[in-house]
Amino acid sequence: MNDGVGERLQKVLARAGFGSRRACELLIDAGRVTIDGEVAILGNRVDPESCEVKVDGILAPTAPSSVYFLLNKPLGIVTTVDDPQGRPTVLSLVNSPVRVFPVGRLDMNTEGLIILTNDGRLTHLITHPSSGLEKEYLVRVTGDPAPGSLRKLRDGVLLEDGLTAPAQVTRVSDGVLRIVIHEGRNRQVRRMCSAVGHDVVRLVRTRIGPIHDATLAPGVSRQLSLSEVRRLMESVGISNMTTK
Ligand code: URA
Repeated sequence: MNDGVGERLQKVLARAGFGSRRACELLIDAGRVTIDGEVAILGNRVDPESCEVKVDGILAPTAPSSVYFLLNKPLGIVTTVDDPQGRPTVLSLVNSPVRVFPVGRLDMNTEGLIILTNDGRLTHLITHPSSGLEKEYLVRVTGDPAPGSLRKLRDGVLLEDGLTAPAQVTRVSDGVLRIVIHEGRNRQVRRMCSAVGHDVVRLVRTRIGPIHDATLAPGVSRQLSLSEVRRLMESVGISNMTTK
């Protein structure tokens, strides 16, 4: 029990399903809540991972479990948690009971799939350059790239931060490409296309590793299913899915 650090007890209890924060304050006030065996008072804070919180003598499931959301980001939304310029962020499109963070980023003018989670370990593994997780994009460019340009995109393009790794590039239709990369450099797809003389007009991320969903409308988010989370973890080398 600590009055300076940790989360407010009523917040932790509310998340664990004991009603609204106000209702939880009443439980605390009534002396029905203990922290590590001591009767709690209003103002107490707890570390939900390590403290033993009981309500009427029964252990409360306080540790926040991991949540995973998939959002179809529309144009004009920024991939930050807090935007100093007050622009709408990806967080405003996800209705999560706990604080989540975007996994990687999409440019403001890029559309498509982005994952948000409170699972720091998975975020780290996905965004680490060594993860090699495939990201697939549907790209509309200016003009119609010739076979030579497609070959360059596939083999590697020299950008200011070095040569890009081999990519899968297919021409879908006139001026439309499907590009699969497994690096995550800043504005990579835009820079690759510009480097071969075709600026990006529209960029949509359609897949993150094993995760895709063509039915998710722009601006809509949903939780990943258990099997999607498992496949995502497997794809970055976590074989045994463990939830906190
Ligand atoms: N590549 C880009 O150029 N922009 C993105 O948002 C994602 C990949």
